[in-house]
Amino acid sequence: MKLASKLLITCMAAAFASTAMAAERYKPDNELIEPIKPAKIENQAEVDLGAKLYFDPRLSRSGFISCNSCHNLSMGGTDNLQTSIGDKWQQGPINAPTVLNSTLNFVQFWDGRAKDLKEQAGGPIANPGEMAFTHDLAVGLLNSIPQYVEEFKKVYGKEKIDIDQVTQAIAAFEDTLVTPNSRFDQWLQGKDDAITDQELKGYLTFRDAGCVACHNGAAVGGSTYQKMGVVDIYVTDNESAGRAGVTGEDIDRMMFKVPTLRNVELTYPYFHDGAANTLKEAVEIMGRLQLGKKFTEEENANIVAFLKTLTGDQPDMKLPIIPPSSDATPRPNPWAEIAKADVMKKEEPKAEEKKEEPKAEDKKEAPKA
Ligand code: HEC
Ligand code: HEC
Repeated sequence: MKLASKLLITCMAAAFASTAMAAERYKPDNELIEPIKPAKIENQAEVDLGAKLYFDPRLSRSGFISCNSCHNLSMGGTDNLQTSIGDKWQQGPINAPTVLNSTLNFVQFWDGRAKDLKEQAGGPIANPGEMAFTHDLAVGLLNSIPQYVEEFKKVYGKEKIDIDQVTQAIAAFEDTLVTPNSRFDQWLQGKDDAITDQELKGYLTFRDAGCVACHNGAAVGGSTYQKMGVVDIYVTDNESAGRAGVTGEDIDRMMFKVPTLRNVELTYPYFHDGAANTLKEAVEIMGRLQLGKKFTEEENANIVAFLKTLTGDQPDMKLPIIPPSSDATPRPNPWAEIAKADVMKKEEPKAEEKKEEPKAEDKKEAPKA
C-alpha cells in the first residue's frame, strides 16, 4: 500500500475514534455534589401542623405576615425582593434566603446565629422588623383557637400550646421542604441524557474553576462559612458584617454561610445584599472575587445553564387550611400606632416576656431605621 493511502486510512481511523470519543461524554465519578434525598416523614400529623403555622399570618402583630410572606413556596421559598418587607412596611436589612433545603444547612441565617431550624423559627415571630409579635402573644393566640389546641394535643400530648411546640412543628414541616430529583441529580445517579452538553460543560467549568470548593455537598453550599471577596473586596452598601456580627472577631468580617445553589434559578436576587439581579451577574462576580477568574461569555452562559439544572421537584403540597379564630381570639390591628414599649405594657404583663425581648438575635435582625 502506498504511504499516502496508509496515512489516509490512519487519519480516517483517528477521525472515527475521535468522533466515537466525543459521543462518549464525561460520566459522574466521585463528584463533590451529592443528590438530595427525598424527605423521610416520621410524623405526618406534626408536619401538617407545622404547615398550618407556616402559613398562618396570625403569628404576626399585623395578622398579615406569615413565614410564607417572605419564604413563598410558590417562588422557590423566597420573596424575590432585594430585602424583605416586614411589619409596617419596614425595609429588611438583608436578603431572605430560601427555606427550601434549609434543613441541609449546617447552621441557619447568613451569619449562622441559629444552630438549627427549631431555634431559627422563634426568631422572625418576635423580630420587630419582621412579624413583630412576641412569643407570649403568639402562643396566647394559638391557645384561643380550639382546633389548634386539639391538634397540638394530638401531636405533643399536652393540654397547653407552648412556643417550644410551635417552633418544633414549624421545623418538622421545614424538614420536608427538600427538592430532590433535579436534572443534575438524575445525571449524578446515572441518567446520562438528563443534562445537555452545554450544561455538562458548565458543570465541568464550575467544578474545575474551583466553585465547588465552597459550593458542594447535597445543598451545593450551606456547609461552611466563607469570605465574600477572597481575591478582591466586595463593595456593598449593606451594613451586615457577616459572621463578625456574632463573634465580634475582625477576622470574621464578611464571612457568610455559603448559600445553597439548589433552585438558584428561582431565588433571585442574589447575595446577602440582594444586589445581583441575574445569575449571569452573580457568576461573573463570584468568578472575579472568589477565584480571580474572568469567564468568557460562553463559559458564563454554560455555568448559568448548569446552575439551572439544580432546580428540583418543588414541595408538592396541598395548601393548608388553617383553623379559624374563635370569638376569644384577639383581633389584629395592623395600623395601630403603638410604640413597642406600649405593646409590652398593655399586652405583655409577664416577666417572662421581658426576659425574651432583648434577645441579641432579635436586635441584630431589626432594620437599622
Ligand atoms: C419579613 C420577612 C420574613 C418573615 C416573615 C420570615 N422570614 Fe425567615 N428570613 C427572612 C430573612 C431576611 C432571613 C435572613 C436573615 C439573616 O440571615 O440575618 C430569614 C432567614 C430564615 C431562615 C434561614 C435560612 C438560611 O439559609 O439560613 C429560615 C429557615 C427561615 N427564615 C424560616 C422562617 C420561618 C419558619 C418563618 C416564620 C416563622 C420566617 N422565616 C419568617 C425573612 C423573613
Ligand atoms: C471561597 C468560597 C466560594 C467560592 C470559591 C465560590 N463561592 Fe459562590 N458564594 C460564596 C459565598 C460566601 C456566597 C454568599 C456571598 C454573599 O452573599 O455575600 C456565595 C454566593 C453565590 C451565589 C449567590 C447565591 C444566592 O442565593 O445568593 C451564586 C450564584 C454563587 N455563589 C455561584 C458561584 C460560582 C458560579 C462560583 C465559581 C465561579 C462560586 N460561587 C465560587 C462562596 C464561594
